[in-house]
Amino acid sequence: MDSNPAACETGQSGNRTSGTTIIVCISCRDASGSDAHPRAGEKLAEDARRAAAGQPVEVRTVECLGNCKRRLSASILHDGAWSYVFGDLAEDSGADLVTGACQLANAEDGKIPWRGRPDSLKRGLVARIPPLTLLKDQS
Ligand code: FES
Repeated sequence: MDSNPAACETGQSGNRTSGTTIIVCISCRDASGSDAHPRAGEKLAEDARRAAAGQPVEVRTVECLGNCKRRLSASILHDGAWSYVFGDLAEDSGADLVTGACQLANAEDGKIPWRGRPDSLKRGLVARIPPLTLLKDQS
Protein backbone atom coordinates (compact mmCIF):
# COMPACT_ATOMS: atom_id res chain seq x y z
CA MET A 1 0.00 0.00 0.00
CA ASP A 2 1.03 3.53 -0.75
CA SER A 3 0.86 5.88 2.23
CA ASN A 4 0.09 8.84 -0.02
CA PRO A 5 -3.10 8.68 -2.04
CA ALA A 6 -3.34 9.93 -5.59
CA ALA A 7 -4.71 13.45 -5.60
CA CYS A 8 -8.20 14.10 -6.76
CA GLU A 9 -8.45 16.53 -9.61
CA THR A 10 -9.72 19.38 -7.49
CA GLY A 11 -10.12 22.82 -8.91
CA GLN A 12 -9.79 21.67 -12.49
CA SER A 13 -12.45 21.92 -15.11
CA GLY A 14 -14.46 18.78 -15.23
CA ASN A 15 -13.83 18.01 -11.59
CA ARG A 16 -16.46 15.49 -10.53
CA THR A 17 -15.19 14.66 -7.08
CA SER A 18 -18.12 16.05 -5.14
CA GLY A 19 -20.30 13.31 -3.78
CA THR A 20 -17.43 10.85 -3.33
CA THR A 21 -17.68 8.83 -0.15
CA ILE A 22 -15.71 6.03 1.43
CA ILE A 23 -17.68 3.94 3.90
CA VAL A 24 -15.59 1.87 6.31
CA CYS A 25 -16.97 -0.92 8.49
CA ILE A 26 -15.74 -0.15 11.99
CA SER A 27 -16.93 -3.48 13.42
CA CYS A 28 -14.49 -5.62 11.43
CA ARG A 29 -11.95 -7.47 13.58
CA ASP A 30 -8.35 -8.30 12.85
CA ALA A 31 -7.18 -11.85 12.11
CA SER A 32 -7.18 -12.70 15.82
CA GLY A 33 -10.92 -12.15 16.00
CA SER A 34 -10.49 -10.07 19.13
CA ASP A 35 -13.39 -7.91 20.30
CA ALA A 36 -10.97 -5.35 21.76
CA HIS A 37 -11.34 -1.71 20.80
CA PRO A 38 -10.26 0.03 18.76
CA ARG A 39 -11.18 -2.65 16.29
CA ALA A 40 -9.17 -3.05 13.12
CA GLY A 41 -12.03 -1.45 11.22
CA GLU A 42 -11.87 1.61 13.45
CA LYS A 43 -8.15 1.89 12.74
CA LEU A 44 -8.80 1.62 9.01
CA ALA A 45 -11.43 4.36 9.23
CA GLU A 46 -8.96 6.62 11.03
CA ASP A 47 -6.28 5.86 8.45
CA ALA A 48 -8.72 6.70 5.65
CA ARG A 49 -9.64 9.98 7.35
CA ARG A 50 -5.96 10.90 7.57
CA ALA A 51 -5.44 10.05 3.91
CA ALA A 52 -8.54 12.01 2.87
CA ALA A 53 -7.44 15.20 4.62
CA GLY A 54 -7.48 17.99 2.07
CA GLN A 55 -9.17 15.80 -0.52
CA PRO A 56 -12.80 16.17 -1.59
CA VAL A 57 -13.57 12.71 -0.27
CA GLU A 58 -15.78 12.08 2.73
CA VAL A 59 -15.08 9.14 5.04
CA ARG A 60 -18.10 7.69 6.81
CA THR A 61 -18.52 4.57 8.91
CA VAL A 62 -21.04 1.77 9.40
CA GLU A 63 -21.21 -1.17 11.77
CA CYS A 64 -21.38 -3.89 9.13
CA LEU A 65 -21.24 -4.05 5.35
CA GLY A 66 -22.33 -7.70 5.29
CA ASN A 67 -18.89 -8.73 4.11
CA CYS A 68 -17.56 -10.09 7.40
CA LYS A 69 -15.91 -13.20 5.92
CA ARG A 70 -13.58 -11.00 3.89
CA ARG A 71 -12.21 -9.23 6.98
CA LEU A 72 -11.63 -5.49 6.84
CA SER A 73 -14.27 -4.08 4.54
CA ALA A 74 -15.07 -0.76 2.95
CA SER A 75 -17.03 0.63 0.03
CA ILE A 76 -16.57 3.55 -2.33
CA LEU A 77 -19.52 5.46 -3.70
CA HIS A 78 -19.79 8.38 -6.10
CA ASP A 79 -22.90 10.08 -7.43
CA GLY A 80 -23.88 8.61 -10.80
CA ALA A 81 -21.01 6.08 -10.79
CA TRP A 82 -20.65 2.41 -9.96
CA SER A 83 -20.45 1.52 -6.26
CA TYR A 84 -17.69 -0.77 -5.03
CA VAL A 85 -17.34 -3.13 -2.08
CA PHE A 86 -13.90 -4.31 -0.98
CA GLY A 87 -12.67 -6.80 1.58
CA ASP A 88 -9.33 -8.19 2.76
CA LEU A 89 -8.13 -4.67 3.46
CA ALA A 90 -5.49 -3.76 6.04
CA GLU A 91 -5.52 -1.20 8.82
CA ASP A 92 -3.30 0.99 6.66
CA SER A 93 -5.32 0.74 3.43
CA GLY A 94 -6.73 4.24 3.88
CA ALA A 95 -4.55 5.82 1.20
CA ASP A 96 -5.53 3.08 -1.25
CA LEU A 97 -9.20 3.76 -0.58
CA VAL A 98 -8.73 7.48 -1.15
CA THR A 99 -6.81 6.79 -4.36
CA GLY A 100 -9.63 4.55 -5.53
CA ALA A 101 -12.21 7.17 -4.58
CA CYS A 102 -10.38 9.82 -6.60
CA GLN A 103 -10.00 7.45 -9.55
CA LEU A 104 -13.72 6.75 -9.45
CA ALA A 105 -14.60 10.42 -9.21
CA ASN A 106 -12.40 11.22 -12.19
CA ALA A 107 -13.48 8.26 -14.35
CA GLU A 108 -15.45 9.19 -17.45
CA ASP A 109 -17.19 5.79 -17.53
CA GLY A 110 -18.08 5.76 -13.83
CA LYS A 111 -15.78 2.83 -13.01
CA ILE A 112 -12.50 2.65 -11.10
CA PRO A 113 -9.94 1.86 -13.82
CA TRP A 114 -8.10 -1.45 -13.40
CA ARG A 115 -4.85 0.03 -14.60
CA GLY A 116 -3.31 2.08 -11.83
CA ARG A 117 -5.77 0.83 -9.25
CA PRO A 118 -4.06 0.04 -5.91
CA ASP A 119 -3.35 -3.69 -5.58
CA SER A 120 -5.45 -3.94 -2.44
CA LEU A 121 -8.46 -2.72 -4.45
CA LYS A 122 -7.76 -5.32 -7.14
CA ARG A 123 -7.32 -8.30 -4.81
CA GLY A 124 -10.01 -7.13 -2.43
CA LEU A 125 -12.79 -6.47 -4.91
CA VAL A 126 -16.00 -8.12 -3.75
CA ALA A 127 -18.58 -6.50 -6.02
CA ARG A 128 -19.38 -3.47 -8.08
CA ILE A 129 -22.93 -2.26 -8.46
CA PRO A 130 -24.11 0.07 -11.21
CA PRO A 131 -26.26 3.11 -10.52
CA LEU A 132 -29.77 2.71 -11.88
CA THR A 133 -29.08 5.55 -14.31
CA LEU A 134 -26.40 3.50 -16.09
CA LEU A 135 -28.41 0.31 -16.56
CA LYS A 136 -28.76 -0.43 -20.25
CA ASP A 137 -31.44 -3.12 -20.19
CA GLN A 138 -35.10 -2.36 -20.82
CA SER A 139 -37.43 -3.00 -17.91
S1 FES B 1 -18.40 -6.67 10.66
FE1 FES B 1 -17.36 -5.62 9.04
S2 FES B 1 -18.44 -6.30 7.26
FE2 FES B 1 -19.52 -7.22 8.88
